[in-house]
Amino acid sequence: MHSLVSVGIILFYTFVSQEVVSIPFPTGAVRTECRDRYFWVWLDKSALGESSWSYSVLNELGQRIPVTEHIAAQCGFTHGVDLYGNPEIRISFLACSIHNVFDQDFSLQLQVEVTSLDNLTTAYEVSMNCPLDVPWSPREIVCEENYMEVSVRRAVPGITSEALNEDWIAAWPVAQGAMNQVWQVIFHFQNDSLQDMMATQAHALGYGFNTTATRVLFRSPYSTQQTEVTMVQGLEVEVARAMVFYKQAWMILMVDTAVACPVNPPTFTATTFRWPSPRIMPSLVAFPHQYKDESIEMGVDGRRIDRTTIVQNGYIFLTDTNFISITVPIGAAGGLTESDVIGNRYGTTYSIKLLLDRRWQGDESDWTRHRILKSIRTPFAPQMPVLINNTVPERGYFDVSIGNFLPDVELTMIAIGAKPLMPPELKEHGFSLEEVLNPNNTRVFILKVPFSNPLVEQKYLYGNIRRYTLHLKYTFFLVPKSKSFTHPGVIECEVPDVVLPVFEGFCEAGQIGLVMTRGNLDRYWIPYVGSLQLTNELAVSQNYTVQDDGNYFYLLVPFLATGLVYEDISLHGVTARLDFSLRDNKTLLAMVDFSRSCVFPTGKLLVCLSNGTMTATILSLDTKPELNPRRTHLRDKNCRPVTVDETKALFTFPVATCGTTRKFEGNYLVYENEVIFEREMIPEANPIITRDPQYRLTLRCRYRLNETLRAWAQRLLREWVTPGPYPLGLRAYQRKRAANGQTISQPAGGASTDAKGKAWLWFLPFSVALSGVAATVDTILPVQLFGR
Ligand SMILES: *[C@@H]1O[C@H](CO)[C@@H](O)[C@H](O)[C@H]1NC(C)=O
Ligand SMILES: *[C@@H]1O[C@H](CO)[C@@H](O)[C@H](O)[C@H]1NC(C)=O
Ligand SMILES: *[C@@H]1O[C@H](CO)[C@@H](O)[C@H](O)[C@H]1NC(C)=O
Ligand SMILES: *[C@@H]1O[C@H](CO)[C@@H](O)[C@H](O)[C@H]1NC(C)=O
Ligand SMILES: *[C@@H]1O[C@H](CO)[C@@H](O)[C@H](O)[C@H]1NC(C)=O
Ligand SMILES: *[C@@H]1O[C@H](CO)[C@@H](O)[C@H](O)[C@H]1NC(C)=O
Ligand SMILES: *[C@@H]1O[C@H](CO)[C@@H](O)[C@H](O)[C@H]1NC(C)=O
Ligand SMILES: *[C@@H]1O[C@H](CO)[C@@H](O)[C@H](O)[C@H]1NC(C)=O
Ligand SMILES: *[C@@H]1O[C@H](CO)[C@@H](O)[C@H](O)[C@H]1NC(C)=O
Repeated sequence: MHSLVSVGIILFYTFVSQEVVSIPFPTGAVRTECRDRYFWVWLDKSALGESSWSYSVLNELGQRIPVTEHIAAQCGFTHGVDLYGNPEIRISFLACSIHNVFDQDFSLQLQVEVTSLDNLTTAYEVSMNCPLDVPWSPREIVCEENYMEVSVRRAVPGITSEALNEDWIAAWPVAQGAMNQVWQVIFHFQNDSLQDMMATQAHALGYGFNTTATRVLFRSPYSTQQTEVTMVQGLEVEVARAMVFYKQAWMILMVDTAVACPVNPPTFTATTFRWPSPRIMPSLVAFPHQYKDESIEMGVDGRRIDRTTIVQNGYIFLTDTNFISITVPIGAAGGLTESDVIGNRYGTTYSIKLLLDRRWQGDESDWTRHRILKSIRTPFAPQMPVLINNTVPERGYFDVSIGNFLPDVELTMIAIGAKPLMPPELKEHGFSLEEVLNPNNTRVFILKVPFSNPLVEQKYLYGNIRRYTLHLKYTFFLVPKSKSFTHPGVIECEVPDVVLPVFEGFCEAGQIGLVMTRGNLDRYWIPYVGSLQLTNELAVSQNYTVQDDGNYFYLLVPFLATGLVYEDISLHGVTARLDFSLRDNKTLLAMVDFSRSCVFPTGKLLVCLSNGTMTATILSLDTKPELNPRRTHLRDKNCRPVTVDETKALFTFPVATCGTTRKFEGNYLVYENEVIFEREMIPEANPIITRDPQYRLTLRCRYRLNETLRAWAQRLLREWVTPGPYPLGLRAYQRKRAANGQTISQPAGGASTDAKGKAWLWFLPFSVALSGVAATVDTILPVQLFGR
């Protein structure tokens, strides 16, 4: 026993660093408890903050031994976190450096070193004293998370005639031939081979030995060279079949310190997990036919629980011939469900720390207590957040709930219509956010957003129906894990709350008018006259009258102004039509339209139609004496009125015909022709006398040229036409799509020179509008020379 103790001291010296003065923990920062055969120590994670921690144990000489993973497994220390993330240290009563008073009373001195982020280390001391609660069983085996421990009573019993088990028989010759007065250990393998070594050697391999007043102790980490995994009833059991012995001249003390721990993982289903263990572990039970269960209990967090609690928590604890199994519903009391995020996926895991504590009698001398402490964590189970649309259209707001989140999830932001808002900002925007607790301690967040809020998208559908769309993106934060995830949502609601505008049209002296009584959506729509957007510019240039007081919209268009459609021009009258529409501000699709036609008397009239047709009337009363309308014509004598009566003549001709001339005036292309009265001369051959008046009426139409088209034409001309006397014989073609889908090319312009002798290639913006603001030209074909 002496030499074993000194082995420990020699080894431990190497870990001892300089003395650090330690102070007691602040109140509340540490919690301790004697539970079963363990010292339990918890540090408060909030008191610890971001600091890191490590710990040492003070041995009987007051030396500080830092506890590493290796030392922990060898010496009987276990450290980790409890279910709530608080650091937890568990120390066996039989651990190294415990002050042990006759195996009845145990004292511990720990030092916890806390290092803050700026590398300041403070050492805190923790002292504990624990008495033994339940007397030791002759053999006690513990399957801890990081080691297997066995301690056996070393009182020598009276002589019996028991048969020796096979490990004894196998080890005996080895022990007999071993060195005197040195503790040694023999490992017995499944293949029947043996390995013996000095305690010092075994110690160097990570095994722990000790003898106390009444017991011999052996401790082994998992998965060493000398441990083996065997299958028992199909379950993995890790086994170290060790014999510890001490030999003196006249006796050999040999102690069977075999240890076996089930290491099989639990089996998971979606809602439960089951953790089975073999009822009888052959390497611990020499005579299975004599085996008797004394007690089989389960526990949680190192504490045994009674039947009532088992039933209350929904656990199923069963023992049959071969197995002892514990089944736990995922989420059951005693464990903890935590949120997690993997790749922006929200989910949960459930953890519980189970205990299986059994006592059995193997034979008359074998009274064994066997404990397994098993920490179980279920795999990540994705949980789809539940987004529920509770909107009632009549209430005028969206009502959306999202759940069901554990208390460790915080809602940090909701982006509404792409605008990220933190919960306090939501209130400022007139939204409401409520948190509702479910009976099972999960939470639901309820958001209410008025339809009328500018962050809500709205779209007019038809009739009086409009669709409100709420685009949401929730951001959640997992408090302890500092992870976040987002969840999108789109809620739509169609509501019959549109009031459409009401139109009324009227004809007034020389003007077409309309009054629109506004609805509740038209303020978003863009007014159009024909295909022209009703801009201020258009209204001013064309002498429109526009008034809008928010309730009524009033428009008056002179009957010869751009924007109107001429349905009919005859000597009896001009039928002009105003096509008014309101278009969507994005798609430019007409939402509502209204047309009104008016017939105006044909007085003296000149209409320049957008398709390049000039229409004019002349009145015989314009001259004295009156002229005969039937004898009028254009510059080209062949171009005569299309209709005449006694007092009026109507001319209609395309600008490219009838001797019409064209010239540039600034940004305008001006067409000019004349109505000429053919005077009757007497005599006809050598006329000197006429009673007819001299009459010439100039007709001018100005078409605004689009800058782009003009510049483009200029470039074309430079590239395609040789300099020199400028060709007037150029023609541009405009390609249009006909109603039947075919593409047709039609002449779309020509070339001309301006006052400075510069050549212009021009395109008639006829397809568009009278003012020629824009042309719906798909393609303009290359200029073609057609000869002079
Ligand atoms: C062995 O046990 C004694 C108590 O009996 C204890 O004081 C000592 O620290 C232990 N030594 C080791 C190396 O575990
Ligand atoms: C703290 O000390 C460790 C080791 O002494 C060193 O690696 C680390 O850089 C130090 N950190 C700071 C913030 O000084
Ligand atoms: C028996 O098994 C042990 C452990 O697996 C191994 O170290 C040893 O070499 C084996 N002996 C023989 C003879 O196979
Ligand atoms: C918690 O309760 C809510 C509502 O009662 C339910 O929808 C949800 O599924 C429950 N969650 C869990 C984990 O039991
Ligand atoms: C939300 O609820 C409203 C009202 O019941 C319903 O009209 C609408 O279709 C729902 N929207 C979605 C996206 O579920
Ligand atoms: C376009 O109309 C929608 C309603 O359809 C409105 O929410 C939006 O503010 C309008 N945009 C502009 C630039 O007027
Ligand atoms: C608009 O009215 C003014 C004055 O009444 C007139 O001079 C001008 O020619 C008119 N313009 C158009 C495009 O009718
Ligand atoms: C030009 O438009 C008028 C009135 O809309 C129409 O009567 C005439 O046929 C059109 N002329 C050409 C060449 O398209
Ligand atoms: C001129 O017409 C072209 C082709 O239709 C168009 O892209 C351009 O915006 C117009 N330019 C102006 C100043 O109206």
